[in-house]
Amino acid sequence: MQVLIAQDAPVSARAGALVVPVFTNGELSSAAKAVDAALGGAIAAVLASEEIKGKLADCALVHANGQPFHRVLVVGLGDRAKFEPSHLARYAGAAVRYLGRRNVDTLAIALPDEAKGNEVACASFAIEGALSGSFETTIYQEKPDKRMAVQAITLLANGFDAAAIKRGVERGEILGDAVNFARRLAVTPANDMTPTILADEAVKCGKAAGVDVEVFDEARIRTESMGSFLSVAQGSVQPPKFIIMRYNGDPGSKELLALVGKGITFDTGGISLKPPERMEEMKYDMSGGAAVVATMCALGKLKPKLNVVGLVPATENMPGGKATKPGDIVKAMNGKTIEVINTDAEGRLILADALVYANKLGATKIVDAATLTGACVIALGHAASAAIGSDDAFTNEFLAAAKSTGERYWHMPLYDDYASAMKSDIADLKNTGGRPAGTLTAAAFLKSFVDETPWVHLDIAGTAYLDNESAWQAKGPTGTPVRAFVSFVETLAGAPVVHANGKALSSRA
Ligand code: BES
Ligand code: MN
Ligand code: ZN
Repeated sequence: MQVLIAQDAPVSARAGALVVPVFTNGELSSAAKAVDAALGGAIAAVLASEEIKGKLADCALVHANGQPFHRVLVVGLGDRAKFEPSHLARYAGAAVRYLGRRNVDTLAIALPDEAKGNEVACASFAIEGALSGSFETTIYQEKPDKRMAVQAITLLANGFDAAAIKRGVERGEILGDAVNFARRLAVTPANDMTPTILADEAVKCGKAAGVDVEVFDEARIRTESMGSFLSVAQGSVQPPKFIIMRYNGDPGSKELLALVGKGITFDTGGISLKPPERMEEMKYDMSGGAAVVATMCALGKLKPKLNVVGLVPATENMPGGKATKPGDIVKAMNGKTIEVINTDAEGRLILADALVYANKLGATKIVDAATLTGACVIALGHAASAAIGSDDAFTNEFLAAAKSTGERYWHMPLYDDYASAMKSDIADLKNTGGRPAGTLTAAAFLKSFVDETPWVHLDIAGTAYLDNESAWQAKGPTGTPVRAFVSFVETLAGAPVVHANGKALSSRA
């Protein structure tokens, strides 16, 4: 996809379609007003007829013969008083999907006046949204059944701070590509996305982005005493990989943020085999890992002033002849012993060693992301990820940075009760704590491997992939939490694109 900036006013934009915003209550943006005048009131008529009401991502197409733009797509931006920069991702994403399905190949996107003073964030969200709107999961189809005709998107910068728009467009392109990269890794089936292939993808993107990538093979993983991780891998003929990606944006600093992602390239459940119904979705069980890989490569291009290490333990969870059996006791890298009650609670087993390794590398802060528990889907559905932390100040810092991205996280508690549920009669810990609060007992288990380091665990089981498409997003993988990760890194680096109070910066360091 080609991404361009033009200084044309909306009325003189050249494109297959011009995209202009409107708000609820029939309110036109300045761009919509100017175009409405040029078209003799055609846009006001669409709103007066209530064909659309201006709800976020609502679309209505108006033909404009004889204009340099051949059509106008009127897109809702919702309630004007509640405008947030992240709404522009849905606005632009909806436009790309609506027009891409209708054989339009070039788009000119107008911004609302609300973007004034917020250009970096607004341009970034618009471009990120346009790119993620163009993503389709039909990569294995000879003739894709979903058309996506859009080849080029132009952001109309007339009347805005040109330098800030340029920075925002660059960030949006990097972020949108990263989100789509994570989605491609996640949607690729397990036969084509083995631990080896995932590690190769990390090496490849790391090279392109200037991020150092190291991959531990099975022998090295054994040398590191990651017995918990290996206990999951031993049931599979696919060799495990431990992926380490280093981005050193602040070499003088001792601060090190670790991003840890669950990299189960397929989860059969192991000997505690899952039922066949929807098991194919377990190709998505490396979504956290995919987000870490994609985020690290985006950081290499965005260059925030922070040291970040990305860690992805990658393996299949299979019921092979050498597989771990319920009741087996395994030893993690920190010496803690774990009674494996259920081999399907494998995510926490591989994350345990990765979290210990993060501490060994000197991480001063840790965030992990994992499709960890079905219980999380029961608790929050597909509407939000769960965020569970060891340090409320740190968790709140993450939540504030994540909120501005449009991704949703819901803070859940980490009471001592949940840790008690994970005590084993025979080992230090067991890997399941019964049905109650399954997301939180899993988090309590992970907490035993992070020591005192401020840490947030993100359970993305309900948000990593979706059954239904929306106006702005294909169904399937969502790329979460790439946006939140990038926003959090920028915040820690002292250069947030959007402030926690919702007010965006017009420029950044
Ligand atoms: N990968 C699954 C969790 C999952 C379920 C993700 C549904 C996405 C959708 C995880 O490894 C798992 O199997 N968890 C078990 C834990 C249980 C055995 C304690 C679960 O949630 O059932
Ligand atoms: Mn499992
Ligand atoms: Zn799993």
